[in-house]
Amino acid sequence: MNRKIIVAANWKMNGDTQLINDMSAALNQLTYKNKQVIVCPAAPYLSQAVSAFSHPDIAVGAQTINDRESGAYTGEISALMLNDLNVQYTILGHSERRTHFGESSALVADKVAEALDKNLTVILCVGETLAQREQGETEAYLTSQLQAVLDKVGIKAFEQMIVAYEPLWAIGTGVSASAAVAQETHEFIRGYLASYDETIANRISILYGGSVNAGNCQELFSQTDIDGALIGGASLKVEEFKNICLAE
Ligand code: 13P
Repeated sequence: MNRKIIVAANWKMNGDTQLINDMSAALNQLTYKNKQVIVCPAAPYLSQAVSAFSHPDIAVGAQTINDRESGAYTGEISALMLNDLNVQYTILGHSERRTHFGESSALVADKVAEALDKNLTVILCVGETLAQREQGETEAYLTSQLQAVLDKVGIKAFEQMIVAYEPLWAIGTGVSASAAVAQETHEFIRGYLASYDETIANRISILYGGSVNAGNCQELFSQTDIDGALIGGASLKVEEFKNICLAE
């Protein structure tokens, strides 16, 4: 299966107009070989980003949405608003949302359902803590995170989704999972989805996230079940992110 490499930037609560201008100027002039780039700035910059990233291989995504369509939910943003702004993707279930904002797997599943209902492509994040990995609970935990979404929207919905495997111990630590550990875990995730539908599992892109940089991305991308990366820190640096986008 020849899956396109996806390079996704999660700017988290960072970035500004200047970064949008600098990053778009750098990325718009590149030629991407069989690659999709997705830039996910903070919500106030989504509209600007849609205008600035004009290259056909670069899309813009949000970092989360609310699970409801509209209403009295101060501070939240809806899938409909993303539709209105021509934002095509949204990250959901990022570990920082789960940890700092108390998002349960059930709520993440509700958000996935709302996003898909509004035709957004979801980047669904899953990942275990260091303690879970050390106690041999990685597979059970990843399964429980995936299962909540499978129970809510069904396997067919995964046709409109990307999975991002982001082990918490590798996020922002400077210590990436080794290519071998990441590959093994991606293979497990794909295998789990294949137990529901082999064709969908073969087609779905599974991204790795956690301290990806220009130095380690090539080895990660060359693994059979790693179809790209979701990148935090390194996506805020123009030259570094450009080099990741250009990696074969
Ligand atoms: P870092 O690349 O900074 O480790 O962040 C990864 C991440 O959380 C992307 O969503």
